[in-house]
Amino acid sequence: MIVSTKKLFAHAYGQYAIGAYNINNAEQIMGLFRGCQDSRAPFIIQISKGARKYTDKRLLEGIIRSADEIFPDAIFAVHLDHGGEEACLDCVKSGFYSSVMIDASDKPFAENVEITKRVVKAARKKGIAVEAELGQLGGVEDEVAVSEANARLTDPKQAVEFVKKTGIDSLACAIGTSHGAYKFSGSQRLHFEVMAEIQKLMPGFPLVMHGSSSVPKEEVDRINAAGGKLKGAKGVDENDFAKAAKLGVVKINIDTDGRLVWCRVHREFFRDWPEIFDLRDPGKIFMAEYAKYIARKNEVLGSAGRLAEVCRYLKKGK
Ligand code: G3H
Ligand code: 13P
Ligand code: ZN
Repeated sequence: MIVSTKKLFAHAYGQYAIGAYNINNAEQIMGLFRGCQDSRAPFIIQISKGARKYTDKRLLEGIIRSADEIFPDAIFAVHLDHGGEEACLDCVKSGFYSSVMIDASDKPFAENVEITKRVVKAARKKGIAVEAELGQLGGVEDEVAVSEANARLTDPKQAVEFVKKTGIDSLACAIGTSHGAYKFSGSQRLHFEVMAEIQKLMPGFPLVMHGSSSVPKEEVDRINAAGGKLKGAKGVDENDFAKAAKLGVVKINIDTDGRLVWCRVHREFFRDWPEIFDLRDPGKIFMAEYAKYIARKNEVLGSAGRLAEVCRYLKKGK
């Protein structure tokens, strides 16, 4: 059942975080739904602008609708990840999405506010929640001075002003993570003190952590042993998720880890079975492995086993 992102956040706040997983195709969608079914977890399915273009947004939405039928117990929100204004308005118009993310974080503060406000205004009319970002993810390069990297982190006081001025429902904060498989080098680290300060200033307000793949070493080693060349790949320590959840993080974005599972399965498959060319053979392994990955991740996030209580909470309409 597709549900409101806001309600999922309200239930999770301060207790656990909800996995927000990026998907691009049918195999990822099947693996995700199976993994969440097996771990009895609510989840957020994220569609990026790139994913909407990869085949066709209608195809992706159709597969999600079908998965909703195939897995009648599933409780999930559908979210546009890193949208520009145009993509956000298109998703709002479609009526399929529970929430959209407007990412104007590369613009000056006032412009970020104006763009975000326009999206909030349109989304409100349809009861769709809006996530926006303040600060800049990244800054992991060694040559970036620490002071400069810190300047990209979300400024807690500015965050309060941003939330007040825009009326958003959740805030993506830059606390030192970055997208992709190469997150930390040199002195880079997570800045929980920033999260703690934001929570102090806005208790109860839902926060989002992007760039949260853990880039498992075992996965990277297996990829490299099967011919890959991923040197120095490093992700977020998953033991930090519980700490983040206590600081008001309700949504944890994961994309790269799913790509690593896909890459490992296919590299190993074609190394070990050079005579096979049927896409369904590695596809079946991928769906099972991705489901396993998702179920385990939901345990770490604390969302596993929550389905029944979330269901009761949604029924009460609180
Ligand atoms: O934050 C970005 C997500 O990982 C989506 O990546 O734009 O390549 O689909 P993508
Ligand atoms: P990762 O690259 O760490 O998986 O981050 C994904 C993300 O933030 C999607 O918005
Ligand atoms: Zn992101």
